[in-house]
Amino acid sequence: MPVSKTIASQLENASWIRRMFEEGVRLKRERGAEAVFDFSLGNPDVEPPPAVLEALRRVAAGNLPGMHGYMPNPGYTQVREAVAHKLSRETGLSFTAEDVFMTVGSAGACNVILKSILDPGDEVLVLMPFFPEYQFYISNHGGRMVPVETDAAFLPDAERIQAAITPRTRALILNTPNNPTGQVYPERVLRDLQAVLERSGQPITVISDEPYKAFVYDGGHQPEVASFIAQTAICNSWSKSLGLPGERIGYLALSPQLEDREALRRACAFSNRILGFINAPAIWQRVMLESLDEAIDPAPYERKRNLLCDALQAIGYEARRPEGSFYVFLKTPIPDDIAFTQRLAAEGVLAVPGTGFGRSGYIRLSLTIPIERIQKSIGGFERAFLALPRQES
Ligand SMILES: Cc1ncc(COP(=O)(O)O)c(C=O)c1O
Repeated sequence: MPVSKTIASQLENASWIRRMFEEGVRLKRERGAEAVFDFSLGNPDVEPPPAVLEALRRVAAGNLPGMHGYMPNPGYTQVREAVAHKLSRETGLSFTAEDVFMTVGSAGACNVILKSILDPGDEVLVLMPFFPEYQFYISNHGGRMVPVETDAAFLPDAERIQAAITPRTRALILNTPNNPTGQVYPERVLRDLQAVLERSGQPITVISDEPYKAFVYDGGHQPEVASFIAQTAICNSWSKSLGLPGERIGYLALSPQLEDREALRRACAFSNRILGFINAPAIWQRVMLESLDEAIDPAPYERKRNLLCDALQAIGYEARRPEGSFYVFLKTPIPDDIAFTQRLAAEGVLAVPGTGFGRSGYIRLSLTIPIERIQKSIGGFERAFLALPRQES
């Protein structure tokens, strides 16, 4: 068989998100698109801001000599300088262009840092529930994922994290605002984590995956992880904040407080190249140079969150409002989230079972669906809820 055993087994366990997406394609073919309400994929449903598209047109028309050539592996210096400047303003730390690597999205950034720090068998702590691709990114580089439970509110639990640290622990992945829970980790939690990491006496890198940083609701904000945790490598992108996940543009930034930073910089520049990316898309680096202050308005997502959570609560669901990101992590009225996902699918409502994120008893609903579609989907949620046998509810 030409496919490796590793990939064959990963495919077997692979993303429920994709599986539900494919189920959606099938249902739409069978019933027509109008009868299907697809809450499965976190694909932004808003177009990038006009200023970003104008910058793209300007850059494409610019016709600079050499603009299509190879560049230094970490990316164009001018763009990295601009990103470093913005990060310095936001975190109060002194980032320089040398700390910033332009990457193929946040996913690319996570892979570059993991590649740079892991030896075979090294452990990476991941907080449950988690973005399912982390397990594959870690195993891409020979690492071993160690899942750690969060507390009842899905916030990092310092004691459990402390208990999970072994001499092989090399990294902890944090993702706030969180996919799938929508939690925004507050300062208190970040301070507790810094204390745990300090006590460990080990150089554990915190990989702060931040693609939802711009999505915080109710007037709140995401405290900067790097401002509170010294050993931070930031992974971020404009996939969500500018609505362009297909363009694959993001960055990795090493905190000025990281130990052995010079060696790590060299490693990251090398990893970016040998992973096969060579560098992040040139045209989008140039566009970002002109677009760093642009952002999508998160207000429509907040309106959709309110509409959906209010309607679900009125039906009888335990629907906690997410503080950030654009997902509702809904407790299922029966413990079997896969069975409940199937009941919803029978009503034309597509969700992702929490099992796919390492937490059964929940489903994830993405708010990247038009508000009118959410309104029309409520009947399906209601019928699936009311059809539950009494003893199950
Ligand atoms: C938590 C998390 N990290 C990383 C990614 C990948 O994002 P990007 O498009 O920036 O690579 C996603 C995409 O959905 C995500 O949800």
